[in-house]
Amino acid sequence: MLENRFVRHCVSIDDFTESEVLELCRSALKKPPAFRPIDPAKPAVGLVFLEPSTRTAVSFIRACQRIGLNHVLVLSKGTSIEKGETVEDTLRNLKAMGMGSFVIRTQVTGGLQGCRDLGLGPVVNAGDGVGEHPTQALLDLTTLLDLVHWDEGRLRALKIGIYGDLRHSRVAQSWSKLARKLGIRLTLMSPEEWRPAWAVDHDWSDSRSAIKDQDVVMALRVQRERMDGPAAAVTEAFVNNFRLGRRDLAEHQRLMHPGPINWGVELEPDWLEDPRSLILKQAEMGVLLRAKLLEWVLETKS
Ligand code: NCD
Repeated sequence: MLENRFVRHCVSIDDFTESEVLELCRSALKKPPAFRPIDPAKPAVGLVFLEPSTRTAVSFIRACQRIGLNHVLVLSKGTSIEKGETVEDTLRNLKAMGMGSFVIRTQVTGGLQGCRDLGLGPVVNAGDGVGEHPTQALLDLTTLLDLVHWDEGRLRALKIGIYGDLRHSRVAQSWSKLARKLGIRLTLMSPEEWRPAWAVDHDWSDSRSAIKDQDVVMALRVQRERMDGPAAAVTEAFVNNFRLGRRDLAEHQRLMHPGPINWGVELEPDWLEDPRSLILKQAEMGVLLRAKLLEWVLETKS
């Protein structure tokens, strides 16, 4: 089937203009998506999660429920993917059974670019290997817009620092693109071994010294499942150097983390209830942002 040329996708932050990003995040807060009853006649959203997920999967489910869209959740375990069926075949069959759009998480970096041409309708990237995680970066931005009361000047003046396992983080790569698009200053901090090639455009430090200069500090999970050899060997040094406790941030600083958290690794325990932590706010904002995003790709209005 031929794809309509104008189908909207969210595979990368590159799929948005600066004004689309700001409009999407601002409207998620200012004009939250209306609650609508499920319309069984409408095509369903296929949520295809081929890697583990809690927040992202549940957040998309809640977003579908909020705006009245049926959804079908497909995990690799228990499906024909385990029998060797290709993901493309699975997606095409789901489309034939009434899925009109897809939210996909895959372990294959860049694996969703090809899905644009399969005639599946809108495709939303819920994380591709060590590639991108655009909706996480957008919900983080929504959380920050809320923090600065939607003042774009204040947003652009924020000093944002990301530390942790940058090399394996799709969240960090989407943030890098987002910061460049919006003119936000991003400082990246990690051991040299965890420094990705795309980090060249940003201020970078291999020590935690820059953390105290940031308004917002974003911690990333140490992704042990993606590490081997030299990358894994620096974990202990990273923990000794970077692990952030509640005494390490000043009163005015804010902490974010996309989750899941390795307590005792990138963060010391007891951050969730700390007033400087935005971590649970990020989870809350995810539902609103993803509902708006689904409306945007499906071109429906609240
Ligand atoms: C992230 C992911 O899966 O990329 N988590 C998330 O979606 N909330 C980060 C991670 O796994 O560390």
